[in-house]
Amino acid sequence: MDVNEIRQDFWVLANSSLAYLDNAASSLKPKPVIDMINHYYRDLGVNIHRGVYRLSYEATDLYEKARQKVADFINCKFEEVVFTRGASSALNLVASSLGMNEIKAGDEIITSELEHHSSMLPWQNVARIKKAKLVYVPLNEEKKITVENFKKVLSDKTKIVALNYVSNAMGYITPIKEIINLAHEKGAIVIVDAAQAVPHQSVDVKALDCDFLAFSGHKMCGPTGIGVLYGKYEFLQSMEPIEFGGDMIDYVGLQEVTYKDAPYKFETGTPLIAGAIGLGGAIDYLLNIGFDFIVKQEEELRTYLLKEMKKLSDITIYNPTTETGIIAFNINGVHPHDAASVFDEDDVAIRAGHHCAQPLMHCLNQIATIRASLYFYNNKADIDKLIKAIKKAKSFFAQFM
Ligand code: ALA
Repeated sequence: MDVNEIRQDFWVLANSSLAYLDNAASSLKPKPVIDMINHYYRDLGVNIHRGVYRLSYEATDLYEKARQKVADFINCKFEEVVFTRGASSALNLVASSLGMNEIKAGDEIITSELEHHSSMLPWQNVARIKKAKLVYVPLNEEKKITVENFKKVLSDKTKIVALNYVSNAMGYITPIKEIINLAHEKGAIVIVDAAQAVPHQSVDVKALDCDFLAFSGHKMCGPTGIGVLYGKYEFLQSMEPIEFGGDMIDYVGLQEVTYKDAPYKFETGTPLIAGAIGLGGAIDYLLNIGFDFIVKQEEELRTYLLKEMKKLSDITIYNPTTETGIIAFNINGVHPHDAASVFDEDDVAIRAGHHCAQPLMHCLNQIATIRASLYFYNNKADIDKLIKAIKKAKSFFAQFM
């Protein structure tokens, strides 16, 4: 695989000098994915599951084929894939349905201060309403989740474990497999926020044995507005829907209703047709690039970026041992948003802020950080531009210190 060739698939990379280093927020979208979305809107454009005509059959076929692609991609059954608006709504679905129905006063829910708000707040809400206890895995010195620290909070009262697979703010990989095994020994249900994992590494839900796993399309070269909730079928079947209306029912009477089986009972109304088809296209695209290449490319660029950053003075790197393409840092004495604005003048796009992880910012004693996040289409020139922009921001703000 040649990165320069790959970059031609992305309009922004092929036609501008932008160093796009905000991939944890959203990835760019390649031409084959846009073509698939266009195909639906231009050539089909109709509803699915309902129309008794050719165009509707074709659209239905593409939508359901996309579900099979997701199932093959993460190694689960077709009916274990629920299409949602994104990872956040997938995580909210589990909490609002299973959480609200199964959690009782005094039960314990384990999460961490390393979570994206979407992995933590749905359970904070369940805990508040059901009078359950939210328990946080103590982070180690580096702000990592460790198996040892997980054991300290796991108990017979643990009913739910809701943790990230890869931290969106620090890029750390959680030892999720060991955590899942331990949680299952206590009979707890494990929900994995894999929004930052699935785009970057091969994920096999059967090998992990997680009970639920969520991710978004837009961080993996797919469209916005589509995500996936994987759930073990017995859980999905036993769960109540949280939205009611068209397409999710079998029979409706005036006082009673029966629902379709999972996953359809969770996909109310006209589903995210173009989104699902586009996500299917994104899976084809990523598989063609190959995760061996993706992992290797991100690893090389991370090593290079960290090496170059460590040569600079007055920079604090918060995660020098990160295992992925997410690097969190600050220029000492400079507000991250000010630094980001200077970077932007030189066509370097990164994210500055709390990264939807305010509890982690408290742990770091920072209001915000700068986050550079890599993907397989980045190259060394992008890193060089970032380093140059950091130097420029440092010298610009030095005059005010
Ligand atoms: N969840 C996205 C991020 O981490 C938006 O930036």
